[in-house]
Amino acid sequence: MRNIIWLVALVVSLAFAGTALATDGAETFKAKCAACHGKAGEGMKGMAPALKGNAFVKGTAADVKKTFLEGRAGAAKKYKEFPIEMPKNPMADADADSLVKFLQGDLQK
Ligand code: HEC
Repeated sequence: MRNIIWLVALVVSLAFAGTALATDGAETFKAKCAACHGKAGEGMKGMAPALKGNAFVKGTAADVKKTFLEGRAGAAKKYKEFPIEMPKNPMADADADSLVKFLQGDLQK
């Protein structure tokens, strides 16, 4: 009987392992992005542009992902009103995908 209980516990934990591995996009945003882009992605004067309502963010997912993974500095910079550069944010691919999903989904609501 005890063996069966352990077996059930093992199967259940394996079933959830896949979802547990990727960090929630909202959590990643709070930890790595909100300090510059604002808690709700509303942007910060002199610091970083708004991500909410931003056409680039709502556009091609691969471009958004590349921007936060590789950052944007020097000649690649787009905004003069934000003198600092967008830092690199290396992270696991699954975490990057859930962050993109959050940026294009819940953050835009
Ligand atoms: C140190 C402050 C800082 C942090 C932290 C930061 N950013 Fe940025 N981000 C910027 C700045 C400044 C720009 C504008 C760069 C430019 O001039 O093109 C920017 C630009 C962007 C853009 C492009 C916006 C556009 O209109 O082209 C995206 C997307 C973005 N950031 C996402 C993120 C995400 C996601 C995170 C967290 C993983 C993050 N940023 C963390 C400062 C920051």
